[in-house]
Order: sequence, then structure tokens, then C-alpha cells
Amino acid sequence: MKNKLSNIKKCINYLNNNECIGIPTETVYGLAANAYSDKATLKIFKLKKRPKKNPLIVHYYNLNDLKKDCLIDINFMKLYKKFCPGPISFVLKLKRNSCISNNVTNKKKTMAVRFPRHVLTRRLLKILKFPLAAPSANLSKKISPVSKNDVIDEFGKKIKFVLDGGQSKIGVESTIVNLVDKPKILRLGGIERKKIEKFFINKNKKIYKKNKIIVPGQGKVHYSPGIPIRLNIKDPKKDEAYVLIKKRKFSKKNFYYLSKKNNLKEAAKNLYKTLRLIKKKKFKSIAVEKIPNIGLGETINDRLTRASK
Ligand code: TXA
Ligand code: MG
Repeated sequence: MKNKLSNIKKCINYLNNNECIGIPTETVYGLAANAYSDKATLKIFKLKKRPKKNPLIVHYYNLNDLKKDCLIDINFMKLYKKFCPGPISFVLKLKRNSCISNNVTNKKKTMAVRFPRHVLTRRLLKILKFPLAAPSANLSKKISPVSKNDVIDEFGKKIKFVLDGGQSKIGVESTIVNLVDKPKILRLGGIERKKIEKFFINKNKKIYKKNKIIVPGQGKVHYSPGIPIRLNIKDPKKDEAYVLIKKRKFSKKNFYYLSKKNNLKEAAKNLYKTLRLIKKKKFKSIAVEKIPNIGLGETINDRLTRASK
């Protein structure tokens, strides 16, 4: 516990001095910096090799802090009460007098925000005098990190500090909901699509349209492990890593289980970890068995499809 407290102090020192650090969240690890500082937020783009036109998500401790920077409405409050803190992000209107750096929003009048649930990051946010801009702590277009070591794999010595919060419990990024106009899901994520749609559903109008890329940072090629991925495969090649979701009667050295019980929550948690491991084992390609396209399976399939492009 003592150790944990001193680590939080280290984080605070770095962040107060305009440095970027790695922070744990329940979805994936973030590369965090003071969202009010031009100097600090610029470092995020440099480290990630991220195009400046791709805006950042800002992390808040609570509603009072958020209200300093954003306008909220009834739809926001419904979702906030149900899911926050948790794996959901909102695109909201920025207040004119907010202190958010222009780097964060790319000078847009909207901003993506979220309230992470991870206990260490909440402790950190509670103490800081500013919110944290924190995209996933990976190089642009690569797989998001779900542990301290993953972040170090991405940035090595270029990053000053990573707060160790264990393996991320959700394992895929937050679901992003745009609340600026009519509610719309911009990115599938850690909360099932249907659980969010229930709040708004008007039977003829879906608030999520597959294959429509609206989020600037979620192009067709994304989440790439750097080797080819083939989906819906029944018979993998001998030298391919084979990613599975249900237990087989026999076992082989190239089998990697996301879950042995067809459990989609468990599979989401293990997805990025498994892809990273396979890459480390030097496989030249990956085959994935069919993943049911329901619940978090939709998010898993979204990520795998982009990773396979
Ligand atoms: O779970 C998560 O959301 C993680 C953790 C660290 O919080 N963060 C994350 O950040 O996934 P990032 O930057 O990898 O993905 C955020 C996405 C990007 O695709 C970005 O283009 C989009 O959010 N975004 C940011 N601001 C936006 C805005 N104003 N309007 C629409 N999309 C926006
Ligand atoms: Mg990302």
C-alpha cells in the first residue's frame, strides 16, 4: 500500500511537470498528460506518432470536474448514472470558457470524455488539479496495451513512468457515444451495444451503423498486430497461430484460447494480450475461429476485422 501511494506521488510530479506517463484503466492503458497544457498534450502526439487531427479522450474524476469544460444534457445523465465510472466515452459540446488545450480537440467544438473505473487512476484524478488527456498507450494504429509491460513494449525508455495497475479487466477500449446531436455509437467497445441502445431505441432507427467510420482515429486499418489475420477459420494451417473461444477435445501447441467456455467477456479481456503473445512467439500469421457476433462478440469482431485489413 505504501508503495502504491508513493507511485501515485511520482505520477503527480511527472504530470505537474508536463510529462506523459502510462496509466491503468479498466479498458486499456492510457498515455496520460495534463489536458489543460499545450506542452504536455503535444508530447502525447509525438510519442504515439499520432496525426494532430485525431483528437484525444479526456479523463475526469467526477461530474463537477467535467462541468467546468463540457455541456451536458438529459441523455448524458441517463448514461452517466447507469454506466459511470466505466468503459464508456461521450462526445460532448465543449464550453467556450473551458481550459482544454487546442491540441486535445484539434480546435473542434466537441470533445470525447470518460470516467475510468480503475481504482488507482481514480485516486490520481482525485488529487490532480486538471483532467487527463489519455489515448490508448500504443503507437498509432497498433494494438492497445492491457498491462504495464505492454506499455513498456510500445515506448521503451521514451516514456518516463507507467503506473502498474495489473491487467485491464475489460481489455478492449471504451464504447464511444456521440451526444452532440442525436445519440450515435461511434465506436463499439467495453459496453455491449444493446445495453446502450436500450436507452434510446426507436425501433426503426439504430444508433449504431456498422461499417460507417465516424471517429477520426478509427480507420479501416487499426489494432494491427503487424502480421496477417484470417477470420472465421475452421481449419488453420500448421504453422499458423490458432485463436479459439471454445475448448477442443485435443490440444495443439499453436492453439491460443481467448476463452475455453465461449465466454465473450473473458474473450474480450484476453484479446489484445493473446495477439501480443502470438506476435512475440514469432508466428507469421494468425487464424481465428468464428466468434459469435453478439454482446461483446460484436466488439471483438470489430477489432479483429480492422486488425485483419
Ligand atoms: O478506453 C478508452 O477509451 C481508452 C482508455 C485509455 O481510456 N482510450 C482510447 O483512446 O481508446 P484513443 O485515443 O485510442 O481512442 C479515442 C477515439 C479516437 O478514435 C478519436 O478519434 C476519437 O476517440 N475521438 C476523440 N475525440 C473525438 C471527438 N470530439 N469526436 C469524435 N471522435 C473523437
Ligand atoms: Mg487507440
